[in-house]
Amino acid sequence: MVDPKRPDVTAIHSIDRFVLSVPDLAVAEKYFSTFGLDVRNHGQRLDLYTFGHDHCWGSVHESGKPKKLEYLSLGVYQEDFAPLKSHVSSQNVAFAHPHPFGTDEGFWISDPDGNALQIKVAEKSSPNEKAPALGSRYKKNPIDVPIGPNRSEGGRVQPLRLSHILLFASDVGKSLKFYSDVLGFRLSDKSADVIAFAHGAHSSDHHLLALAKSDGPGLHHTSWVVQEIDDVGLGMEQMLAAGYAKGWGVGRHVIGSNYFYYAQDPWGSFTEYSYDIDFIGVDTVWPSGDYQPEDSLYLWGPPLPEDFITNYETRSTSLSAA
Ligand SMILES: [Fe+2]
Repeated sequence: MVDPKRPDVTAIHSIDRFVLSVPDLAVAEKYFSTFGLDVRNHGQRLDLYTFGHDHCWGSVHESGKPKKLEYLSLGVYQEDFAPLKSHVSSQNVAFAHPHPFGTDEGFWISDPDGNALQIKVAEKSSPNEKAPALGSRYKKNPIDVPIGPNRSEGGRVQPLRLSHILLFASDVGKSLKFYSDVLGFRLSDKSADVIAFAHGAHSSDHHLLALAKSDGPGLHHTSWVVQEIDDVGLGMEQMLAAGYAKGWGVGRHVIGSNYFYYAQDPWGSFTEYSYDIDFIGVDTVWPSGDYQPEDSLYLWGPPLPEDFITNYETRSTSLSAA
């Protein structure tokens, strides 16, 4: 395997964890379990794992208040930690106290919208290579042709790993500059000043972090990789059958190229099943595009739900449907 570390580049390599708070933990436990995550209940906190993977991708705390993104924890290689910390200092970014739900590992800063960020040494959890094209559901027929499974063999969808997170931002350009200049994210593609997609320098999916125009901070969606296109459709059925009736998809994105289904969570944000997202390896210099808004969001799919781009953390709709 190619070494995923880009030489002579000091940058974060992964979103190590996202941390949310929600009004009622039981509601979150049911939702994320139905989505197919391995949800571990620690009383006042849920930890979100994927089955067969030992990394904790997210935590959910109970607050009794509306859903809120509390903080992101970003992972860096051990040898990059001290250089990154002094680089952050040189950018006149103030260090902050640990978030009340967080730990004192590493150091803490805030992004331009006030999102708390923990920077810490962590094992790289973003991918080092693109996932293989065909998953385990396919079987061979007598003449060795890979064929799809019977409907009765569909089974439950269990995502493999976290792919990316999309945050609302009051000024996409300003936030993109912060994440690029301070933390080493790299622009993949964007659409005017309404949305920008950024990857990690040390190999990641086409986007590890995306930023969409709003009037303040908020979490739009977390995205989870599934092993084949069928899992996107089966995941949709899984959520619909459990009563999670609202969502968007199945469809195919333009930027990032992935097939998607977004289930809407009980708090108005989304959880995406994603298959076949573009991958940006360590030896790739991605040719960033600036797409027309009406041509950037999806190649095909059902009409966009009216509230798809509503920031329920600030209760605003400020991005027109593309
Ligand atoms: Fe996404």
